[in-house]
Amino acid sequence: MKQLLFAILAVLGLAACSPSETGEPQGKGAAAPITGEVNIYSSRHYDTDLALYEDFTRETGIKVNRIEAEADALIERIKAEGEFSPADLLITVDAGRLWRAEQAGILAPVDSAVLKERLPAHLRHPEGKWFGLSTRARIIIYNKAAGVPEGLKTYADLADPRWKGQICMRSSSNIYNISLLSSIIAHKGPAAAEQWAKGVVANFRQPPQGNDTAMIEAVAAGQCRLSLVNTYYLARYAGGDAKAKAIYDKVGVIFPDQDGTGTHVNVSGAGLVKTAPNRANAIRFLEYLTSESAQRYFADGNNEYPAVIGLKPNAAVAGLGAFKPDPLNLAEIGRHQAEAVKIFDKAGWN
Ligand SMILES: [Fe+2]
Repeated sequence: MKQLLFAILAVLGLAACSPSETGEPQGKGAAAPITGEVNIYSSRHYDTDLALYEDFTRETGIKVNRIEAEADALIERIKAEGEFSPADLLITVDAGRLWRAEQAGILAPVDSAVLKERLPAHLRHPEGKWFGLSTRARIIIYNKAAGVPEGLKTYADLADPRWKGQICMRSSSNIYNISLLSSIIAHKGPAAAEQWAKGVVANFRQPPQGNDTAMIEAVAAGQCRLSLVNTYYLARYAGGDAKAKAIYDKVGVIFPDQDGTGTHVNVSGAGLVKTAPNRANAIRFLEYLTSESAQRYFADGNNEYPAVIGLKPNAAVAGLGAFKPDPLNLAEIGRHQAEAVKIFDKAGWN
């Protein structure tokens, strides 16, 4: 009995002192030596991401293991795995999802001089819980054959009754629309946001349906005159085959709010998992993602704008035109997500 008690105390004692010995504050992996690998949970799946991982391994000798799934599933999985999760980094799209991960308590702050220097402040969480690594803008598109929609310059203008029966939108359950409305709440308050949503709903040509790609095709076909889409979807058509280019040529682009707060942008980003067993390697990978070559892979994989200041997007993306982005901190967009969902409900934007 005495021996058993001693054994238990010895185990407890060992467990209690090991984190402070290593000086590593985080998680179960704190006591483990660097194992030469990093485990990435990603909701992205582009060919260029593979090149990105290989390049990192070549440069550092650190092996990249990845699990790919839908963002919310990955967040749930990390939560369920708890302190035994092998996840080091979560990579996903949209500040709304990064905010959900943060709210789920699965992300840890990273204090990195490299990340602070390379990434603009509004594209990263104020405490370093996630970092935006490439950006996309949510833009107005119009059917060119129906003519340039004169006077349509802002998101607010979409609620003008003169566009009655001419606007198609995807569902409000989609995170891109939730984040856009969150940015409107942040800038103008919930009452103005609700008025806007109601005004846009009153202009719907049809009940919300389809994704951003369906919106582009509906606008190109003249089924709808106006819609909102993320830039990378349109850039895909611009850089696609002859059939895709023919669709692209029928669609005009308006970057909203150029004389005001700027066009709403969102990010693809990553955050360190709180229980990361390979914390140092994960931070090294995050920093690597801001290198010029990694930015190229990361942004081009999905026709996005590199987040690092001074780097240019690819030709298809650049072809959409230059614009002034909204410098609102994306953490602010997360904060208004729940309210945005409620407002969409009230407005009848299904
Ligand atoms: Fe998307």
